[in-house]
Amino acid sequence: MPKPPDRAQHLRLTVVVDNLVNIFLPSQGPLSYPQPGPCSSLLAEQGLSLWIEVDGAQGNATRVLYDFGRGAQVLGRNLRLLQIDPATAAYLVLSHGHIDHYGGLLPLLAERQIAAPLVAHPAAFGTRGIQRPDGSLAGPWRLEQARVEEALAGPPLISAEPRQLGPGLWTSGRIGRVSPLDRPFRAAVRQQGWQWVADDFEDDQAIFVNLEDRGLVVVTGCCHAGVFNTLARAQALFPGVPLYALVGGLHWNFLSDNELQDAIAELAGYDPQWLLAMHCTGALAQHRLRERFAERCPFNTVGLRCSW
Ligand SMILES: [Fe+2]
Ligand SMILES: [Fe+2]
Repeated sequence: MPKPPDRAQHLRLTVVVDNLVNIFLPSQGPLSYPQPGPCSSLLAEQGLSLWIEVDGAQGNATRVLYDFGRGAQVLGRNLRLLQIDPATAAYLVLSHGHIDHYGGLLPLLAERQIAAPLVAHPAAFGTRGIQRPDGSLAGPWRLEQARVEEALAGPPLISAEPRQLGPGLWTSGRIGRVSPLDRPFRAAVRQQGWQWVADDFEDDQAIFVNLEDRGLVVVTGCCHAGVFNTLARAQALFPGVPLYALVGGLHWNFLSDNELQDAIAELAGYDPQWLLAMHCTGALAQHRLRERFAERCPFNTVGLRCSW
């Protein structure tokens, strides 16, 4: 397991795909927002993709593309406009097997020569969907392991265990369910044989960065495993390291206002210095987080770059 001095010296994170784009936000401190110009053509979609760059003590950089948005058009365009070369990625990491996170993967691999392996949990593959309130199914979406393996330059790294990707940079591996505050996303289903069953999101994995002099940066995809379960996993892998930043989707869009208040009070106990809630967090949750954390919870947009 991670031990000092397994720490990153510096982290740069760029939002490549997210649900919102806004080119009229003022850059400040470690946050650099996209400005009018070429970035006026950035696109948003219901999806997520983050470019993560970590420097080690010798200045050696490790780059990771975490998730791939929903389809080819937005990911490819935004990578170009943000001048990110995905061929320099050491790893491609999939948070979980939902189409808004894997959709751009196969088109990207078809379009670009990318040697990086794909890191995923074995349960990321298969057929999933979302049950609508009227009983109909959104989807189904199918991620086939064989098709992914065919498209990759090398074999995928399929495991439920945490994996070190670079200095202080780890995947979470399987996230245990320990917190009663995390509410399951009951509308999600997956195919098991001929049956549709409740999706337990065994595959959901986060990225952890142990950042020198600051603490832990926890990066989530949709956070279907639950944010408090994810934070507990981070604490178990990095005991005693405080939470510095929480970045990604929290999937709080289905929580009631009361449930949100409880969750936000719990999150405040971790005293994060930065909270970048994106993608599936939900509009009311974003609003309540901003009320509670003020400037520690800055606005998010496609094209935002954080440098810590
Ligand atoms: Fe998502
Ligand atoms: Fe999801």
